[in-house]
Amino acid sequence: SKDLLGLRDITAEEIEYILNTAKTMKYIITTNNKKTAHLQGKSVITLFYENSTRTRLSFELASKYMGANAANISASGSSVQKGESLIDTGKTIDSMGSDVIIIRHPMSGAPHLLAQNVKSSVINAGDGMNEHPTQALLDMFTMVEKKGSLKGLKVAIVGDILHSRVARSNIWGLTKMGAEVNIAGPATLIPPGIEKLGVNVFSTVQEALLDADVVMGLRIQLERQKKGLFPSIREYSRFFGLDDKRLKLAREDAIVMHPGPVNRGVELSSMVMDGDQSTINEQVTNGVAIRMALLYLLTRRGTANEVID
Ligand code: CP
Repeated sequence: SKDLLGLRDITAEEIEYILNTAKTMKYIITTNNKKTAHLQGKSVITLFYENSTRTRLSFELASKYMGANAANISASGSSVQKGESLIDTGKTIDSMGSDVIIIRHPMSGAPHLLAQNVKSSVINAGDGMNEHPTQALLDMFTMVEKKGSLKGLKVAIVGDILHSRVARSNIWGLTKMGAEVNIAGPATLIPPGIEKLGVNVFSTVQEALLDADVVMGLRIQLERQKKGLFPSIREYSRFFGLDDKRLKLAREDAIVMHPGPVNRGVELSSMVMDGDQSTINEQVTNGVAIRMALLYLLTRRGTANEVID
């Protein structure tokens, strides 16, 4: 396909292929002086209508490590502020010879609209409450690295599921790959009907964590709360925060994940966040490898027999 818009739309085989390609990319960033020429002559543009540290920077570094020209536009400093539409903005970027546009947008479906209207490949870097596929791919890559396989893995995702595009992409991806997914969160922050996606829904964190191999905490997304704050930060932390005592319910060798940014002391205690079981920093490193893999795979369209050397 020309684009990566969500994990809902791709197959288990495609996910496997991306994860395998990222293995090679991780080798390149950890042992090969962070340099390849796979994207030489290509132009990669990040178009962000929402804030980001990890996703934007890792795409920019991934592009540069592979020899691409990389540039960023943020909505606040662009002609979007003068009323230019998303489609017109995309066509303008396209006309400058971009090969890949990476978009983050507060509206679900914005990357899909852009993809239909530009020649460049489009990668969804987070659209509203819908999907954040590259985050879920780096999460799955980290799980495979730590646990060997996704098949049969018990993954507990805890917190503000309703507003979490990370949770949604992980649920699509993990269930396709044969993992068992438990979710738990405040009743007001669990999307109605989520069990239809093949997950087990629990009302307490304790039930969701029992014997889990992977525990993923989520930030409460205050910026997406529309009707006042329920629960409060204090309640969220008290009932769904991950601390040492709760973590003991998971398997002894469980890993603790979080997509970041973390509200330290709210969804994760400092002990858990900085503890031996935490993979948060490795997730960030793996994010560069996954994004290199995606840029490589999307820009070599038409050269299917090419092999990474
Ligand atoms: N996990 C994630 O998307 O982080 P950023 O918002 O910093 O990109």
